[in-house]
Amino acid sequence: MGGEIKWEPDLETGIKIIDRQHKEFFKLVNALLNNSMGSKNKDFVLKAFNFLNFYIIEHFGMEESLMTENKYTSLREHMGLHRYFRIELEKLEAQLKGNHFDEVTIRLNYLMVNWFVNHIKVQDKKLAKFLQEEMKINKSLSGRIASLMKKFFGK
Ligand SMILES: [Fe+2]
Repeated sequence: MGGEIKWEPDLETGIKIIDRQHKEFFKLVNALLNNSMGSKNKDFVLKAFNFLNFYIIEHFGMEESLMTENKYTSLREHMGLHRYFRIELEKLEAQLKGNHFDEVTIRLNYLMVNWFVNHIKVQDKKLAKFLQEEMKINKSLSGRIASLMKKFFGK
């Protein structure tokens, strides 16, 4: 099925680590979506889903630590949205275990194309704007972001 999610320049937030991770899981989601519909290879789908799940949780954790460390003003709202998405993923995982592969594919596609893309455009961009302002007064923040890049991507 051709339900690819496309990376577009207006998804760029301007905060390196956030953008790099977003791009990375667009790749993961596409790999998963392209191989899951009607799939005979359920092990692959399960593995890919688990990896995506792990990756998203790491990513949310990373954003949340930046929010906490910098006393982000919309922290609660943003974290609440992450919580919603985590719960949705848990539901999908349960469905996968019940072998409802095609339903999961459709729902995951919907969640990524609608919820996630919108989350990036609205919430993550708002957070990025805040972090950019913060960097002007907090000299250690760019170093912190650079160290996160190193931790996750080795450079
Ligand atoms: Fe976020």
